[in-house]
Amino acid sequence: MKSFFSLLPLILLMSILLSACDAESPVAVESTPVFATSELSGGETTVFDASSHAFSTPAPNLSASAFEKHLEGDVEFEANFVTAPAEVNPGLGPIYNNISCINCHSRDGRGRPPKVDEKFVSMLFRLSLPKPADAIDGQPPIPVPGFGTQLNNRAIFGTAPEGKIKIDYTEQTLTTADGTRVHLRYPNYTFTETYQPLPEEVELSPRVAPSVFGLGLLEAIPEDTILAYADEADANGDGISGKPNYVWDVVEQRYTLGRFGWKANQPTLLQQVAAAYHDDMGLTTSLFMTENSAGQSQLTAHDATPEISDEILEVVTFYVQTLAVPARRNVDDPQVKQGEVLFAKAQCASCHVPTLRTGVLAGVPSVSNQTIQPFTDMLLHDMGPDLADNRSDFRANGREWRTPPLWGIGLVRRVNGHTNFLHDGRARDLMEAILWHGGEAAASRQAVEQMSKEERDALIAFLESL
Ligand code: HEC
Ligand code: HEC
Repeated sequence: MKSFFSLLPLILLMSILLSACDAESPVAVESTPVFATSELSGGETTVFDASSHAFSTPAPNLSASAFEKHLEGDVEFEANFVTAPAEVNPGLGPIYNNISCINCHSRDGRGRPPKVDEKFVSMLFRLSLPKPADAIDGQPPIPVPGFGTQLNNRAIFGTAPEGKIKIDYTEQTLTTADGTRVHLRYPNYTFTETYQPLPEEVELSPRVAPSVFGLGLLEAIPEDTILAYADEADANGDGISGKPNYVWDVVEQRYTLGRFGWKANQPTLLQQVAAAYHDDMGLTTSLFMTENSAGQSQLTAHDATPEISDEILEVVTFYVQTLAVPARRNVDDPQVKQGEVLFAKAQCASCHVPTLRTGVLAGVPSVSNQTIQPFTDMLLHDMGPDLADNRSDFRANGREWRTPPLWGIGLVRRVNGHTNFLHDGRARDLMEAILWHGGEAAASRQAVEQMSKEERDALIAFLESL
């Protein structure tokens, strides 16, 4: 007599066939994606636009007055600043990295490292001194005397920039299990033309500008939801921990959960935007009243009224809170579906969490109570020595980075005309980005190295559909 187990394949096959005809069937089908993904990456804020404007569209569910406010913010986001005194947009510098938000976040998308002999446009460097051995866990970065915590490579007329940086790359090759050779490039940085000597022991963190759409949704994810994914001591033993950053909140005057920036080093979009005006453009706000050049030998700081009013700060914050998320494409393509299963199998989803639910973000109903597919857990992970910047940022240590959201990643080429990924833009395409994963993500990378070419293509097709 045939045992039940030898009949099992037949039973499974029959149930697959049955459930294929009957959508209501409760039988679990093997090929069902492990996570239910839809096209609506941004819930009701999703926009069906796969053009070069895919990241710059207002959320379609804004009220008429919210739409107006968004447009006001858009104008400010694009405003070019100039040296004071001037009629329009004065106050730039004295030292800065760029003259407008949009210059770095081109089309609300992402920046990249300069090509050989190009100037730095959409990438910047954070600096600090090493923390003393007895430092308390989670303390803010220690500014470098005369430089602060960011290298400003440009300055207004009559003032020297803090210094410049040169990048060159070391090429290395990785061979996957099926013998495919993949070329990777590792960046090296050299300081040049610093206006005064930089201390030998300075710590340096390269960062390209990330895209700025969908951020209100990420701000609206309840803290408890994010903390539920944290597993600092890896209690479940899956090799993946996930740790929240806690950073200084200037408005609340206490440490709160960090959400924005490559190391989750900013707690709110309001503070992120104020810090951008301050650190990247040399513009003061009510949050950061002191010029970024304060304390430097060549520059005198002035503490007047903020160069950016609270009204402007608020509309720009609202602007980045209410940019739509582009819809997924080709979700029913068999290759994309295969890639989705492989994404889950390779444990990518342990950090790049597909689906989350937002709570309520005060004043921004369009991003509140949405089911979204950001593909992030908003937590820090040890990504290994190759990606390490060896510079800590509050609780994030020198090897830890926040899982970046993957929504829209397949449209970066169309929007920004490049495919440079990771915090320093070293990856030249999505596969290179994956093959740099180490640390907690080493098993995921190894899984990809073991895949056949067909499977790797499917995984990339899935990422391209996001
Ligand atoms: C010199 C280039 C540059 C300029 C100018 C600039 N940014 Fe950024 N922006 C960056 C970089 C780099 C980061 C990542 C910072 C980090 O990880 O510490 C960033 C991060 C952000 C983030 C967080 C994104 C995320 O996914 O966490 C927002 C929001 C943002 N910028 C908005 C603005 C606004 C608004 C302005 C203008 C007031 C602005 N930026 C000006 C380079 C720039
Ligand atoms: C342990 C957590 C973790 C796992 C597992 C993981 N990632 Fe990541 N991923 C990250 C972090 C953190 C970064 C940012 C690293 C950096 O910029 O240095 C990242 C970056 C990326 C990027 C580039 C994103 C960008 O905005 O530049 C892609 C693409 C990506 N991951 C895909 C994958 C895929 C595919 C898998 C599975 C094979 C995977 N990741 C597994 C944490 C993880």
